[in-house]
Amino acid sequence: MINVPKGTKDVLPNQSHKWRFIENAARETAAAFCYKEMRTPTFEHTELFQRGVGDTTDVVNKEMYTFEDKGGRSMTLKPEGTAGVVRAFIENGLASSPMPVKTYYITPAFRYERPQAGRLREFHQFGLEAFGSPSPETDAELIFAASSFLDKLGVKGVKLELNSIGCRICRGEYNKALKNYFAPHLESMCPTCRSRYDKNPLRMLDCKEEECKKIAAGAPKILDYLCEECKEHFEKVKELLTAQGVEYTVNSGIVRGLDYYTKTVFEFVSTQIGSQGTVCGGGRYDNLLEELGGNPLPAIGFAAGIERLMLLMENTGVDFPEEQKPALYLAGMDAASRALCFKTAIYLRGKGVCAEFDHMNRSVKAQLKYADKIGARYVAVIGESELATGTVNLKAMKDGNVNSVKIAEIEEYLK
Ligand code: HAM
Repeated sequence: MINVPKGTKDVLPNQSHKWRFIENAARETAAAFCYKEMRTPTFEHTELFQRGVGDTTDVVNKEMYTFEDKGGRSMTLKPEGTAGVVRAFIENGLASSPMPVKTYYITPAFRYERPQAGRLREFHQFGLEAFGSPSPETDAELIFAASSFLDKLGVKGVKLELNSIGCRICRGEYNKALKNYFAPHLESMCPTCRSRYDKNPLRMLDCKEEECKKIAAGAPKILDYLCEECKEHFEKVKELLTAQGVEYTVNSGIVRGLDYYTKTVFEFVSTQIGSQGTVCGGGRYDNLLEELGGNPLPAIGFAAGIERLMLLMENTGVDFPEEQKPALYLAGMDAASRALCFKTAIYLRGKGVCAEFDHMNRSVKAQLKYADKIGARYVAVIGESELATGTVNLKAMKDGNVNSVKIAEIEEYLK
């Protein structure tokens, strides 16, 4: 017996309608906010993530599914959606389109992490990425889109946490302050933090080790080091969100786990799904296009984890729409009536009606039992008289009411 790989999940037929519900809400939200879909490959050159996501991040250092292809190239299954979208944006010359260019995706992503509730090795993200606008309105729009998406799903109690991690200018000052602060503590910090000290001290705030976390709690706060422009930008984002009635708290501890962020960063966090409570995260990445070889262009995005949202919805009893059930089951008695069942089912399906017939050569009694099990709304038994008159008795399964309906009028009747 070969089992599903650790950290991955099957979506079975009785679950897929829940997935579709979330994906439909994602697509509807994206459409309403004028974001268009973009699809990029599942694997990319490893260097894209090393340069894009950053080689001081856990994602790149520890979690990537990297392999050599048969041509000897190093490839990596995408650990997130942004880097591929940015690569495609630059490569396809979308920078010459009218700005902003607003895109969205629903994609699998792969991270070799220790699996637990809400943390998988293959998971799925719904993300928005907006290119070309430096304005705080775009930040507020994007955050509002994330919040509308969560509302559409009916999830409750998710808190928005907001921070700004500044631009190159303020980050320079802040990095100095962090280094001064951490220098006397380095001895008692983990090897990863010690290696990050020189390369990227901001990452030291993201360490999960208990001792490092304690030390990091006393570190200087980025918000005290923002330059005038970043400060103003952050104030405006908050003002716009408040005006729109979006509740948030400023959490200066949010630095995000990926290296490309600048200015606004945010997370939507739930306390109802265990330790992996971040259902959605994102922020600005105004330097990434340039870092990946494009012309400088500001951008901002977020991604929400579909499995985490599913977990949250299931844990909090959100009502999913019912899974699709057949509108009509056609039971046949003999060869001629079975042929009519087949023909009628095909005709109704052509009209968009979900109709089913017997595939298993069962008795009429067994066919009706099956129709009940699959939740058919109506059943019709086709026999000699139905063949002769072209009229069937449709029995409603919920109350047993029977009505005689012409085959040509079934579709109308079922509406
Ligand atoms: P991220 O915070 O690494 O950001 O991931 C976004 C979301 O993906 C998380 O909030 C979480 O819901 C989900 N997620 C991450 N890792 C896992 C996992 N192992 N298992 C299940 N769900 C997971 C990004 O990926 C950025 N690309 C977001 C972004 C877009 N920033 C700007 N644009």
